[in-house]
Amino acid sequence: MKKAISPEAGREALRALLTEGSPLGPLKVMAKHVGRLFQIPMPFFHPYIVFGPEANRKVLVTERNKVLWRNTDPVTDLLDRGVLIVDGEEHDHYRKLMESSLHPSTLPGYTDMMIRHADRVTSEWRDGDLVDMLVESRKIALLIIMDALFSKDVWNDLPHIWTPILKAIEYISPGAWIIWRKIPRPGYRKPLRELDAYLFGIIEERRKEKEAKPDLLQHLMDAGLSDQVIRDQMLTMMIAGHDTSTALLAWVFALLGQHTDVHHRLVEEVNTLEKPLLLDQVIKETLRLYPPIHIGNRRVAEDMEFAEGTVPAGERMFYSIYLTHRDPSIWEDAESFCPARFAQGRKTPPFAYIPFGGGPRSCIGAAFGQAEARIIIAYLLKRFNFEFTGHRIHAHMGATLEPRPGVKMKVTRRISNNRK
Ligand code: HEM
Repeated sequence: MKKAISPEAGREALRALLTEGSPLGPLKVMAKHVGRLFQIPMPFFHPYIVFGPEANRKVLVTERNKVLWRNTDPVTDLLDRGVLIVDGEEHDHYRKLMESSLHPSTLPGYTDMMIRHADRVTSEWRDGDLVDMLVESRKIALLIIMDALFSKDVWNDLPHIWTPILKAIEYISPGAWIIWRKIPRPGYRKPLRELDAYLFGIIEERRKEKEAKPDLLQHLMDAGLSDQVIRDQMLTMMIAGHDTSTALLAWVFALLGQHTDVHHRLVEEVNTLEKPLLLDQVIKETLRLYPPIHIGNRRVAEDMEFAEGTVPAGERMFYSIYLTHRDPSIWEDAESFCPARFAQGRKTPPFAYIPFGGGPRSCIGAAFGQAEARIIIAYLLKRFNFEFTGHRIHAHMGATLEPRPGVKMKVTRRISNNRK
């Protein structure tokens, strides 16, 4: 099934690429002109894109046995047997081992730890500093995920692991390898080896400890997994569990910077209300406009029928969270930042809002990620004034959807760190 786009739509797609500074613009043009199922017309790479409630439900729930998570690409090279990219029983086994550490009932136990790490990062800010909220959010999110899942305090190691982590993320981000799988990719071997050595070091340290710790690492060890498979799960959780939160936090600050009315109301609420309703709405609306995971990557194992056509077995297929979240037939004024659309009592149709995917393989860290965002954003807004510098921001399609070139804000302290 191939739907061609007209030369006029082609020109519109090119214009969108230039104005939005990312392929998301052309994807929206394709969606507008072709519909909820189309193929990307690139040489040597023409995956199918599907989106909308019907397709999401099929891919995630009702026909998920027709798709495979595992592909052959840099993600599988790097994460190997990681829970994110294995199928069938192997997946279910790892997932079960990990669920208890991220169960919503565990979340209150993480609050103080999250605040402590935000404290450490922000204690380095001086009044009038220009901070990049993409960088600062990453520091906070990394400290939190490593502490929560592996009881590892990485504060002193940050200078040493920062570049290897960024390199690992860059390694799995879309690039020229999409078109030419075997393209030489120099510059990764050393940092990726350093990252492995760091993770194996944590495993080794833990094996020597006399007392068990009640964390995810311990569960993996107690289950008798090999060090190699434990490393795969650790790297998966470390990346999936912090790069997404980094993007979410940074986008919240970008959007607050661009919408001062919402920013002011939110500061007012977090300072006066125990449960600021607007905070939740801002987080939800940010996840709608800039879902950190903007597509789900699948390989089709059996032909799939959608209202708008068939995706044949053997093809690569992405379900697009981004296009679903911006579909004007679902969302009124879809391109606008409007937190009130998530006000209590308002409903969204099933499978129209899926920032955490859906079905049995939906995000294992969804509750954790949202709790973290609520705690960190409230914490920061209570303690600091943030003044956006007004620079241009575009959505970069990396491993996650990131605000580039960052979110530069001038910070001044409002109250001291040790008040909650
Ligand atoms: C704002 C934060 C987050 C967002 C937006 C997000 C988004 C997602 C999405 C959309 C999926 C499904 C992908 C697909 O269908 O292909 C997913 C899966 C996953 N996420 Fe998250 N995530 C977030 C935070 C986290 C955290 C904090 C962790 C770990 C602590 C985590 C670990 C995972 C794992 C392991 C999977 C794979 C689950 C499976 O296949 O069974 N995520 N996430």
